Amino acid sequence: MAFTLTALPYAFDALEPHIDKLTMEIHHDKHHQAYVDNLNKAIAGTEAEQLSIEDIVKNISKYPPAVRNNGGGHYNHSLFWTILSKDGGVPPTGELATAIDAAFGSFDELKKKLQEAGATRFGSGWAWLSVSADGKLQVSSTPNQDNPLFDIAEVKGTPILGIDVWEHAYYLKYQNKRPGYLEEIFNVIDWKKVAERYAAAK
Ligand SMILES: [Fe+2]
Repeated sequence: MAFTLTALPYAFDALEPHIDKLTMEIHHDKHHQAYVDNLNKAIAGTEAEQLSIEDIVKNISKYPPAVRNNGGGHYNHSLFWTILSKDGGVPPTGELATAIDAAFGSFDELKKKLQEAGATRFGSGWAWLSVSADGKLQVSSTPNQDNPLFDIAEVKGTPILGIDVWEHAYYLKYQNKRPGYLEEIFNVIDWKKVAERYAAAK
Protein backbone atom coordinates (compact mmCIF):
# COMPACT_ATOMS: atom_id res chain seq x y z
CA MET A 1 0.00 0.00 0.00
CA ALA A 2 1.52 3.27 -1.09
CA PHE A 3 1.79 6.29 1.19
CA THR A 4 -0.27 9.31 0.21
CA LEU A 5 -0.09 13.02 0.92
CA THR A 6 -2.91 14.25 3.15
CA ALA A 7 -4.38 17.69 2.41
CA LEU A 8 -3.42 20.50 4.76
CA PRO A 9 -5.97 20.82 7.60
CA TYR A 10 -6.34 24.56 6.75
CA ALA A 11 -5.99 26.94 3.80
CA PHE A 12 -2.54 27.72 2.41
CA ASP A 13 -2.88 31.32 3.58
CA ALA A 14 -4.22 30.44 7.06
CA LEU A 15 -0.91 31.10 8.79
CA GLU A 16 -0.35 34.54 7.21
CA PRO A 17 1.39 36.80 7.97
CA HIS A 18 3.69 34.57 10.02
CA ILE A 19 4.10 31.90 7.35
CA ASP A 20 3.21 33.02 3.85
CA LYS A 21 0.85 31.31 1.44
CA LEU A 22 3.41 30.60 -1.30
CA THR A 23 5.81 28.98 1.16
CA MET A 24 2.98 26.75 2.44
CA GLU A 25 1.95 25.80 -1.12
CA ILE A 26 5.43 24.85 -2.23
CA HIS A 27 6.30 23.24 1.11
CA HIS A 28 3.25 20.99 1.15
CA ASP A 29 2.47 20.38 -2.51
CA LYS A 30 6.06 20.11 -3.80
CA HIS A 31 8.43 19.23 -0.96
CA HIS A 32 6.18 16.97 1.10
CA GLN A 33 4.76 15.39 -2.07
CA ALA A 34 8.31 14.61 -3.21
CA TYR A 35 9.10 12.88 0.11
CA VAL A 36 5.96 10.76 -0.28
CA ASP A 37 6.72 9.87 -3.91
CA ASN A 38 10.37 9.08 -3.24
CA LEU A 39 9.50 7.02 -0.15
CA ASN A 40 7.07 4.96 -2.22
CA LYS A 41 9.76 4.40 -4.86
CA ALA A 42 12.34 3.45 -2.22
CA ILE A 43 10.13 0.80 -0.60
CA ALA A 44 8.44 -0.55 -3.75
CA GLY A 45 8.40 -4.34 -3.70
CA THR A 46 9.74 -4.57 -0.13
CA GLU A 47 8.11 -5.60 3.15
CA ALA A 48 8.09 -1.95 4.23
CA GLU A 49 5.12 -1.42 1.94
CA GLN A 50 2.99 -3.18 4.58
CA LEU A 51 4.23 -1.06 7.48
CA SER A 52 3.07 2.21 9.01
CA ILE A 53 5.36 5.22 8.69
CA GLU A 54 5.93 5.05 12.49
CA ASP A 55 7.12 1.45 12.25
CA ILE A 56 9.49 2.37 9.44
CA VAL A 57 11.09 5.35 11.20
CA LYS A 58 11.40 3.48 14.52
CA ASN A 59 13.64 0.93 12.81
CA ILE A 60 15.32 3.31 10.40
CA SER A 61 18.78 1.74 10.81
CA LYS A 62 17.51 -1.27 8.81
CA TYR A 63 16.85 0.84 5.73
CA PRO A 64 18.89 2.53 2.99
CA PRO A 65 19.41 6.33 2.92
CA ALA A 66 16.50 6.92 0.54
CA VAL A 67 14.08 5.53 3.14
CA ARG A 68 15.77 7.45 5.95
CA ASN A 69 15.54 10.76 4.07
CA ASN A 70 12.10 10.37 2.55
CA GLY A 71 10.46 8.31 5.30
CA GLY A 72 11.70 10.85 7.82
CA GLY A 73 10.53 13.63 5.51
CA HIS A 74 7.04 12.16 5.28
CA TYR A 75 6.72 11.54 9.04
CA ASN A 76 8.13 14.93 10.04
CA HIS A 77 6.00 17.01 7.69
CA SER A 78 2.83 15.06 8.53
CA LEU A 79 3.43 16.02 12.17
CA PHE A 80 4.44 19.60 11.36
CA TRP A 81 1.19 20.54 9.55
CA THR A 82 -0.95 19.34 12.44
CA ILE A 83 0.76 21.36 15.17
CA LEU A 84 0.27 24.67 13.33
CA SER A 85 -2.95 26.68 13.31
CA LYS A 86 -4.20 30.20 12.71
CA ASP A 87 -5.56 30.03 16.27
CA GLY A 88 -2.16 29.02 17.62
CA GLY A 89 0.23 31.03 19.73
CA VAL A 90 -1.63 30.55 22.99
CA PRO A 91 0.77 28.97 25.52
CA PRO A 92 -0.27 25.58 26.89
CA THR A 93 -2.33 25.07 30.03
CA GLY A 94 -3.03 22.02 32.19
CA GLU A 95 -0.82 18.96 32.34
CA LEU A 96 1.51 20.02 29.54
CA ALA A 97 2.09 23.45 31.13
CA THR A 98 2.91 21.79 34.45
CA ALA A 99 5.33 19.40 32.75
CA ILE A 100 7.01 22.27 30.86
CA ASP A 101 7.49 24.24 34.08
CA ALA A 102 8.94 21.16 35.79
CA ALA A 103 11.34 20.38 32.95
CA PHE A 104 12.42 23.85 31.81
CA GLY A 105 11.37 26.29 34.55
CA SER A 106 8.89 28.18 32.37
CA PHE A 107 7.27 28.28 28.95
CA ASP A 108 9.60 31.14 27.96
CA GLU A 109 12.61 28.97 28.77
CA LEU A 110 11.24 26.16 26.63
CA LYS A 111 10.68 28.62 23.78
CA LYS A 112 14.25 29.85 24.13
CA LYS A 113 15.61 26.29 24.09
CA LEU A 114 13.59 25.37 20.99
CA GLN A 115 14.71 28.53 19.18
CA GLU A 116 18.31 27.84 20.14
CA ALA A 117 18.05 24.23 18.96
CA GLY A 118 16.66 25.41 15.62
CA ALA A 119 19.04 28.33 15.16
CA THR A 120 22.19 26.34 15.92
CA ARG A 121 21.34 23.36 13.72
CA PHE A 122 23.91 23.75 10.95
CA GLY A 123 22.41 23.26 7.50
CA SER A 124 19.00 21.60 7.30
CA GLY A 125 17.11 19.89 10.07
CA TRP A 126 14.51 20.12 12.81
CA ALA A 127 14.08 21.31 16.38
CA TRP A 128 12.04 18.95 18.57
CA LEU A 129 10.10 18.72 21.79
CA SER A 130 9.79 15.05 22.61
CA VAL A 131 8.82 12.75 25.47
CA SER A 132 11.49 10.30 26.64
CA ALA A 133 10.80 6.64 27.43
CA ASP A 134 10.49 7.56 31.12
CA GLY A 135 8.01 10.35 30.39
CA LYS A 136 10.28 13.41 30.53
CA LEU A 137 10.06 16.38 28.16
CA GLN A 138 13.25 17.08 26.21
CA VAL A 139 14.40 19.50 23.53
CA SER A 140 16.73 18.34 20.78
CA SER A 141 17.56 18.91 17.16
CA THR A 142 18.24 16.51 14.32
CA PRO A 143 19.96 16.92 10.94
CA ASN A 144 18.20 16.52 7.60
CA GLN A 145 14.94 14.54 7.99
CA ASP A 146 15.99 12.52 11.04
CA ASN A 147 13.72 12.62 14.11
CA PRO A 148 13.66 11.44 17.76
CA LEU A 149 11.76 8.24 16.87
CA PHE A 150 14.75 6.98 14.89
CA ASP A 151 16.49 4.07 16.60
CA ILE A 152 19.73 5.90 15.82
CA ALA A 153 18.65 9.31 17.19
CA GLU A 154 21.04 10.93 19.67
CA VAL A 155 18.07 12.00 21.83
CA LYS A 156 15.34 9.37 21.53
CA GLY A 157 11.69 9.98 22.33
CA THR A 158 8.20 10.48 20.98
CA PRO A 159 8.04 13.81 19.14
CA ILE A 160 5.16 16.06 20.20
CA LEU A 161 6.37 19.21 18.42
CA GLY A 162 8.69 19.58 15.47
CA ILE A 163 9.90 22.85 13.94
CA ASP A 164 11.18 22.58 10.38
CA VAL A 165 14.35 24.66 9.96
CA TRP A 166 15.07 23.73 6.37
CA GLU A 167 15.42 26.87 4.24
CA HIS A 168 12.38 25.71 2.22
CA ALA A 169 10.28 26.35 5.36
CA TYR A 170 11.10 30.06 5.57
CA TYR A 171 13.39 31.40 2.84
CA LEU A 172 10.80 33.21 0.68
CA LYS A 173 9.69 35.42 3.57
CA TYR A 174 12.65 35.42 5.94
CA GLN A 175 15.58 34.80 3.56
CA ASN A 176 18.68 34.15 5.68
CA LYS A 177 16.97 35.24 8.90
CA ARG A 178 16.20 31.87 10.46
CA PRO A 179 15.89 33.40 13.97
CA GLY A 180 13.13 35.71 12.65
CA TYR A 181 11.19 32.68 11.42
CA LEU A 182 11.83 30.93 14.73
CA GLU A 183 10.27 33.88 16.55
CA GLU A 184 7.25 34.24 14.27
CA ILE A 185 6.34 30.56 14.12
CA PHE A 186 5.47 30.67 17.81
CA ASN A 187 2.42 32.75 16.81
CA VAL A 188 0.97 29.76 14.97
CA ILE A 189 2.04 26.78 17.08
CA ASP A 190 -1.13 25.08 18.30
CA TRP A 191 -0.28 24.04 21.86
CA LYS A 192 -3.63 22.27 22.21
CA LYS A 193 -2.46 19.84 19.54
CA VAL A 194 0.91 19.51 21.22
CA ALA A 195 -0.89 18.79 24.52
CA GLU A 196 -2.93 16.03 22.84
CA ARG A 197 0.28 14.47 21.58
CA TYR A 198 1.81 14.80 25.03
CA ALA A 199 -1.13 13.05 26.67
CA ALA A 200 -0.87 10.21 24.16
CA ALA A 201 2.92 9.92 24.45
CA LYS A 202 3.60 9.93 28.16
FE1 LIG B 1 10.07 20.98 5.23
